[in-house]
Amino acid sequence: MGRSYEEAVKEVNYDEAKVPAYTLSSPLAGKDGVRVKNAFEWVNFRRGEILDLYKKEVYGEVPPRPDSVWFELVSRKDDALENTAVRKEVRVHFGMNNGRKHFMDLLLYLPKTAKGPVPAFLGLCFKGYHVTTDEKDVRLTGGNLAGNPDFKDESRGNSLERWSHRELIRRGYAAATVCYHDLFPDCKDGWNQSIYSLFYADPAAPSVHEKHSAIGAWAWGLSRALDYLETEPMVNAAEVAVHGHSRLGKTALWAGATDRRFRLVISNDSGCGGAALFKRCFGEVVEVILSNFPHWFVTSFEKYSRNEASMPFDQHFLISLIAPRPVCIASATGDLWADPKGEFLSGVHAAEVYGLFGARGLGTDVMPPPDTPITGEISYHNRTGKHDQTAADWAHYLALADLYF
Ligand code: GCU
Repeated sequence: MGRSYEEAVKEVNYDEAKVPAYTLSSPLAGKDGVRVKNAFEWVNFRRGEILDLYKKEVYGEVPPRPDSVWFELVSRKDDALENTAVRKEVRVHFGMNNGRKHFMDLLLYLPKTAKGPVPAFLGLCFKGYHVTTDEKDVRLTGGNLAGNPDFKDESRGNSLERWSHRELIRRGYAAATVCYHDLFPDCKDGWNQSIYSLFYADPAAPSVHEKHSAIGAWAWGLSRALDYLETEPMVNAAEVAVHGHSRLGKTALWAGATDRRFRLVISNDSGCGGAALFKRCFGEVVEVILSNFPHWFVTSFEKYSRNEASMPFDQHFLISLIAPRPVCIASATGDLWADPKGEFLSGVHAAEVYGLFGARGLGTDVMPPPDTPITGEISYHNRTGKHDQTAADWAHYLALADLYF
């Protein structure tokens, strides 16, 4: 393992002039040296190679669906959000034939005025889903993290703007969320309480961490939430946008890469291990992220600590895996830790894959001024302000959804 966080963070670079010279491979250059020429070759050959690389080196294998999955409607309110929405709380149960069990809790708001199935935004939340709403009668969630400080009434509604449920409902969208701790409590020793306990007798064994990660568990949960949305008559599951902020933005990208049912993929301030190029070593770097959050990645990712230059890939490969579905990469001007320019550049360099499908890339390699989003199948948005997901971010995401849905 590398140095401690305190040691490693001292060297974090925020000076553009000190970004090392680096080379990026083209996602179109195949393992055998043959260059992908068209969308057919991409979909059938090269895409799978890159996905395998990410599974082995970064986020781990994608666990299967459990032997059984069932949905329990725990509560329903027909006059939610000032009578504009139907609210449901659904417990998604996972079972294995050998008796192992796990569950996650999902909160769903549906616009009441809808005449038929509506598109939806789905994202994992921090803390517990009671922080996303000011309705006092939803249950507290997030208790799967031992000692979760937000598993209490006082935390209700403390992330309202980040979720903007009322605005989504007003615009005719459904909003769904699950607390990420339900899938893998976000701590180094969260393995035993994670979904990996469905699949392994000893989920905390090093051999499980060699194959899997917390980000992999969180992304799997998004796919299982989408399984539920597919059964919900008032949701058009072919039009689901997956979104996430920060570590959950990293997760949204991996979910979009591994599950092609997600029609629009939004990473908000995802930074290192998300949209930002590793090789720029600007803001957070591999050594720093692993010193705090080793469980987010598979163990083989450690070899890139202080060794980003040796990576046979960079995060434009991850964006490419989403092609040709629309992807939005969002940054915040005050969030240098996440390297806004590196986030932008992964979008720039993914464009050649989108081009194979006739889809629009960013059309420029010059960063747009703040608050001037670029809209297209690859979209980039750099909001003025700090690391957060705000109403201004939502304005852009809703505009994209209006365009594509
Ligand atoms: C830390 C971490 C980031 C992460 C962020 C978050 O700052 O270093 O990689 O994106 O937490 O999830 O809020």
